[in-house]
Amino acid sequence: MDFKFSVLKLHLIALFLLPTSTLGFNYCNFPAIFNFGDSNSDTGGLSAAFGQAPPPNGATFFHSPSGRYSESVGLPYLDAFLDSMGTNFRHGCNFATAGSTIRRQNTTIWQSGYSPISLDVQQLQFSDFLTRSQHFREKGLFQNLFPEEDYFSRALYTFDIGQNDLTAGYKLNLSTEEVKAYVPDVLGQLSHVIKLIYGQGGRIFWVHNTGPVGCLPYVMDRFWVTAAQIDKHGCSSPYNDVSQYFNLKLRELVLQLRDELPAAAITYVDVYAVKYSLISQAKKLGFENPFVACCGHGGKYNYNRFVKCGSKTVVNGTETVLAVSCKDPSTRISWDGTHFTEAANRWIFDQVVGGAFSDPPVSLKFACNKMNTSQK
Ligand SMILES: *[C@@H]1O[C@H](CO)[C@@H](O)[C@H](O)[C@H]1NC(C)=O
Ligand SMILES: *[C@@H]1O[C@H](CO)[C@@H](O)[C@H](O)[C@H]1NC(C)=O
Ligand SMILES: *[C@@H]1O[C@H](CO)[C@@H](O)[C@H](O)[C@H]1NC(C)=O
Ligand SMILES: *[C@@H]1O[C@H](CO)[C@@H](O)[C@H](O)[C@H]1NC(C)=O
Repeated sequence: MDFKFSVLKLHLIALFLLPTSTLGFNYCNFPAIFNFGDSNSDTGGLSAAFGQAPPPNGATFFHSPSGRYSESVGLPYLDAFLDSMGTNFRHGCNFATAGSTIRRQNTTIWQSGYSPISLDVQQLQFSDFLTRSQHFREKGLFQNLFPEEDYFSRALYTFDIGQNDLTAGYKLNLSTEEVKAYVPDVLGQLSHVIKLIYGQGGRIFWVHNTGPVGCLPYVMDRFWVTAAQIDKHGCSSPYNDVSQYFNLKLRELVLQLRDELPAAAITYVDVYAVKYSLISQAKKLGFENPFVACCGHGGKYNYNRFVKCGSKTVVNGTETVLAVSCKDPSTRISWDGTHFTEAANRWIFDQVVGGAFSDPPVSLKFACNKMNTSQK
């Protein structure tokens, strides 16, 4: 009885304190979110620029993490910068597009599938957005559609990008050593972009590391490994090693940026650990085989890179969809061999938002608090 009472009392105290401060940290109240990334957080950018992804994509409402971040801090869904139809950027903007890399690629989207909207281009778009939105507001135009001036320094800047830079090298037939060798250049370019945004007033950064690419059906299907290179949960070790190497270097970069950008609050989020734990405990968490795509066309992984989700064929003048959705996407982890399902993304987001996988270990709502760099 006494115990219950004290627990209740603690909860009440916590509730009372939470809105403004926990352990001396301020509650952030972000007025806006600006997201930079690839398909892990695209909310319609690539579709707006290069044509809509065919059905059944979006069947469960493609609810990518950038949409969830905005919801979790009480903001509306983030519109894509490239979407010219019915958008409202009052509370931020999403610059991510599916297939984006940090570095510019030397191939077109039609050749390799990588988006030409690489991170440097996303930063140029942000810059343009900042200048022109304020220009309109000064003229008294579209006041309710654009952020107020002070939003830019109070906003949350989120990054989830880098995975495609790693697979891009493999698609060019580079060895793991060769891919690792260019990781510093990739991270140097990420660093450059974060510094530019800091220079433009950005202060609060939320940086995702890269997931275990060696657990993705499209990587396992395309890049063959020996049986000895498959780990105990079924993923390709060499590709995951590259992700981990990238993450090690990214973590070092974040520590360095905390020194170089004294007014910035930078959170490093170990998305790799979250995604790997989902894949390794799939059954326990109520999911089916994590290596079989829900929407695809045959093979060991229900993935065929020439017949992707929604692919059609015409037989005797009648259109037939060759790669259709599975019956219950909510029991699957992989949507189309490359992307996670809505259900998997929800689980991943729920783990990430509380701060258990973050450095410093604070939840999203407290990410604006600058931590001592000595706290690693
Ligand atoms: C593109 O080509 C240039 C010139 O050869 C090279 O320096 C650069 O590293 C290449 N970029 C990528 C992503 O391979
Ligand atoms: C990579 O190797 C494959 C198989 O040898 C070859 O078909 C393909 O053209 C190569 N790709 C590049 C970009 O060199
Ligand atoms: C297409 O039409 C031909 C000729 O009428 C017929 O023999 C064939 O079975 C049809 N194919 C399909 C898949 O319906
Ligand atoms: C950071 O370190 C300083 C000096 O040691 C200390 O006064 C301050 O409370 C620390 N801040 C946080 C957020 O830990």
